[in-house]
Amino acid sequence: MFDFANSLPADTLPAAGPWTGFPAYNFVGGHNDEALIPVDELTDCMLAVMAADGKRLATYGLGDGPLGYSGLRQFLAGSLKSRAGMHVDTEEILLLSGSLQALDLVNQTLLRAGDTVVIEESNYGGVYTRFNRLDVSFVGVPTDSHGMRVDALEQVLSELRQKGTMPRYIYTIPTVQNPTGSVMPEDRRRGLLALAREFDVPVFEDDCYADLTFDGKRPPALHALDEDGRVIYCGSFSKTVAPALRVGYLVAKQDFLARAVSYKTDAGSGALEQLVLAEFCVRQFDSHVKKLSAHLAGKADLICAAFDKYFGASADYARPMGGIFIWVKLPSAIDTTRLAEVAGAQGVAINPGVEWSSASDASQHMRLCFGYPNAATIDEGVKRLAEICQAEFGLPAQIGNK
Ligand SMILES: Cc1ncc(COP(=O)(O)O)c(C=O)c1O
Repeated sequence: MFDFANSLPADTLPAAGPWTGFPAYNFVGGHNDEALIPVDELTDCMLAVMAADGKRLATYGLGDGPLGYSGLRQFLAGSLKSRAGMHVDTEEILLLSGSLQALDLVNQTLLRAGDTVVIEESNYGGVYTRFNRLDVSFVGVPTDSHGMRVDALEQVLSELRQKGTMPRYIYTIPTVQNPTGSVMPEDRRRGLLALAREFDVPVFEDDCYADLTFDGKRPPALHALDEDGRVIYCGSFSKTVAPALRVGYLVAKQDFLARAVSYKTDAGSGALEQLVLAEFCVRQFDSHVKKLSAHLAGKADLICAAFDKYFGASADYARPMGGIFIWVKLPSAIDTTRLAEVAGAQGVAINPGVEWSSASDASQHMRLCFGYPNAATIDEGVKRLAEICQAEFGLPAQIGNK
C-alpha cells in the first residue's frame, strides 16, 4: 500500500476519525428538529422549480454570476429589510455553501497569521477552530444577559491600542448569541457601533439565529444601524429551514464583497438548493419561522424544566431568548470536559464549555442543543446527565429547589 504519511507536509491536520453515528442523547451540534422540516412543501417547490428552471442547471451559477441565484437574493433583500431593518441591494448579497463559508471568506479576506480579532468571551466553537488554524489571536469581551458588554469592549479596544495592536474586526452574534442565547438591545448595538467608529475597526455580525427569537421581536441588525459601511453581515438558512441544504449568505458593501468573491473558488454554491429555497421562502418563510420559533420556545421550556427537576439549584442558566442552545453553569467540582467524556461514553453528548468560551469559569459551563432531540429524549438525557454528575462528581442527589 502506498503510504501517504511520507507525502504529507509537517503541519498537516490530524486525520478525521470514522463516523460512528449520532449518540442516543444528542445535545451537540446545531441540528434542527426533524419534525419541523417542511418536507412536503420543499418537495412541491422542488417540482415547481425543476419544471420552470431545470434547464438552467446547465450553467455554473445558473448564469446569474458569482453572487448566486438572483431570485433568492431578491427574496433576501426584501426579508432583511422587513425583518432586520437592513437596506441592501441584491448586488450586496453573496450566496454561499452555509454561513461557515462566510466565516472562511471574511477571514481569508481580512486575516493573516499574527493578527488579532475581538469576539464575545463565550462564542461559537467554529470561530475558535478557525482562528487557531490561521494563527490569529482573539480577545474575548465579557458578556451579560444583553450580550457583549460595551464598557468591557471599550476597555479591550483601549488596551489593544495602548499595545499598538489594531484588531482586524469585532466579531459578534448580537441576536440570539451562541452559546448564551441573549439578544443585544438596540441602544447597546448603537454603543458598540460608536466604539467601532471611534477605534476604526470593522464589525462582522453573524445573525444566523436572528429569525428564531421566541417573542418574535428582533432589534435592527447592526448592519441596519451602521452609518459608514463597516459592518459585514452573514446569515443562514441552516437554522430556519434545514442545515443540510447548506445555504448561507454574506452581505456587505460591494467593495468588500467583490474582494471576498475573489476567494470563492468553488465555481458557485449548490444552485438547486438556492432555487428551491427561493420558491419556498417566497411562499412561506414567515409562517414557517413563526411555527418553528414557537416549537423551539416549547423545547426551551422543556429543557429548562428538566434542569430544574434533575439539577435544581446546581444548574445555573438563563432561559435562552431564541434559537436552539442552552448555556448551563455547574458547580465548581464539575469539570465539563471530563463530564463530556464520561457522559459521551454513556450515550449523552454535550459540548464542554472550554471549547465554547475563554472565560475563567468556562470549564464549569456546558452547551446543550435542544433543537434536535425530542421531548422524551430531552428529559431522559438531562436526567442521565444529573445521575452521571452524582456518581462521578459528587453532585448531591437531594437537589435544592431553584
Ligand atoms: C454562530 C454560528 N455561525 C455560523 C454557523 C454555521 O452555520 P451554517 O454554515 O450551517 O450556516 C453556526 C452553526 O451552528 C453558528 O452557530
